[in-house]
Amino acid sequence: MIKIIGMGKSVPQKCVTNDELAGFLDTDDEWITTRTGIKTRYVCTDESLTSLSVEASNQALQNANLSAENIDMIICSTLCGDYLTPSLACAVAGQIGASCPAFDINAACTGFVYTLDIASAYIKSGKAQTILIICAEMMSTQADWNDRNTAVLFGDGAAACVITAGDALKYLSLSAIPEITILNLPSDTGNSPFIKSKREKSYLYMHGQEVFKFAVNIVGKDISKALEALGISSAQIDYYVLHQANKRIIDSIRVKLQQPEEKFPVNINKYGNISSVSVPLLLCEMLDEGKIKKGDKLFISAFGAGLTAGCCILIWE
Ligand code: COA
Repeated sequence: MIKIIGMGKSVPQKCVTNDELAGFLDTDDEWITTRTGIKTRYVCTDESLTSLSVEASNQALQNANLSAENIDMIICSTLCGDYLTPSLACAVAGQIGASCPAFDINAACTGFVYTLDIASAYIKSGKAQTILIICAEMMSTQADWNDRNTAVLFGDGAAACVITAGDALKYLSLSAIPEITILNLPSDTGNSPFIKSKREKSYLYMHGQEVFKFAVNIVGKDISKALEALGISSAQIDYYVLHQANKRIIDSIRVKLQQPEEKFPVNINKYGNISSVSVPLLLCEMLDEGKIKKGDKLFISAFGAGLTAGCCILIWE
């Protein structure tokens, strides 16, 4: 079906430490580190989501030895682009010099796995040969910086990858359990004089413990189903590339599987949770560090608002 032939990433310049947050929130480095594993996160100052995405996309194209004219579709995963419309994908297309169909999807933090599935379906159908996937999030504009429960958790960034026909994707599964109360980001209702129940601008809401339980449960189930479908054991997976939402979620899955720590790469310590960007950013870093070799089996998984979840197994080509 598909393979990834080039990746790129970009984060804003401004790095915010836990100590800096403790300067204006009732929190401290010890709480954030022990409860989440996060030490720093990067937040936008004068970068836009478009500028981060363009940088990540150009890197991905360069690593794939392609130029923008070779791309015949751009799919962008984002909670909220620089404009509600046009899409972030169109904004990026304009700046990298692509003139192919381009659109955004919102599957919250699970967006990368959803975009892989869409790209795979287009390539399988023959409607596209080379697709640019971009995940880009500016969580700093969606979090409430007065709320210590959420503000400390998130960061900003973008990651991109180029997809073509190949045999790397061996399994992919998506799910959505409709539950909008424990993790959400309400939109406002504008100034329509007709609207009966007005909603002002509000921020990301999360019931942390409920999301934690959902995550451990769904990722555990997804791993079992995927391994069973391929008839392989947990030991045969070389890397578990999991959504970077909380180091304790990753650790509890690792302990259940009784697999060594080296198989569970993390970057949450540096970047916090960047929603749909977390997994492709981690993959990109692993490639840059030469960690991923041809033939490696990767289990990739993410979960988020919806509640959505998705996982896949890639054998790296
Ligand atoms: N600094 C200091 N104290 C904090 C704090 C902070 N930044 N944030 C919360 N607290 C306090 C709470 O107010 C609470 O105090 P109380 O006992 O006096 O009421 C206490 O810490 C424990 O809060 P709780 O929510 O039970 O902590 P927790 O151990 O569940 O950790 C999360 C909170 C959010 C880190 C954790 O639940 C989590 O990671 N959940 C999953 C989130 C997730 O995956 N989100 C991404 C979805 S894509």
